[in-house]
Amino acid sequence: MKTKVSISKFALFAAIPALMLAGCGKPQGKAGKVIAKGGSADSLAAAEANANLPFDVKEGKRLFSHYCSVCHGETGDGTGQYYGSSLQPSPANFTDKAFMKNMTDESLTKSITGGSASVGKSNMCPPWGKTFESDEIECLVAYVKTFSK
Ligand code: HEC
Repeated sequence: MKTKVSISKFALFAAIPALMLAGCGKPQGKAGKVIAKGGSADSLAAAEANANLPFDVKEGKRLFSHYCSVCHGETGDGTGQYYGSSLQPSPANFTDKAFMKNMTDESLTKSITGGSASVGKSNMCPPWGKTFESDEIECLVAYVKTFSK
């Protein structure tokens, strides 16, 4: 397990859950765990909806809701709980088709791995390359793209 070494103020935030991280490439079994963990009344409906998703999207969704939704929102529209506080610029809105049209798998992979600063933007999106293996980032990319479908 790699530990996050970053000057980002989100380093701690990113590193702690990383210790509990499960590999994206690992078999399906994980999905059941997520639902068990969620434990809400929505679990059953969520389980049914999840069952129809391809594995990479499913795993991307699981990772996204743990690591990204706090800023990007569960629905990917950029209005997570940090939105409207001190976050400037606001988190990318993945439901914005015009924005997502310009995002290729490569560019999404690059900005997720190196953070928004690595693509010449602000440093408000932390670099995730030390938190996730590349197959997990592929899963995140697959899931992020679903918001604009
Ligand atoms: C602390 C809040 C925060 C967290 C957590 C966060 N992001 Fe971001 N993200 C942002 C902000 C703010 C931007 C906009 C940065 C900018 O435009 O300068 C952004 C932008 C992005 C972009 C667009 C980058 C571009 O090229 O324009 C992608 C893709 C992205 N985030 C993916 C993710 C993923 C995947 C995760 C979870 C692994 C994540 N983010 C977690 C705040 C966050």
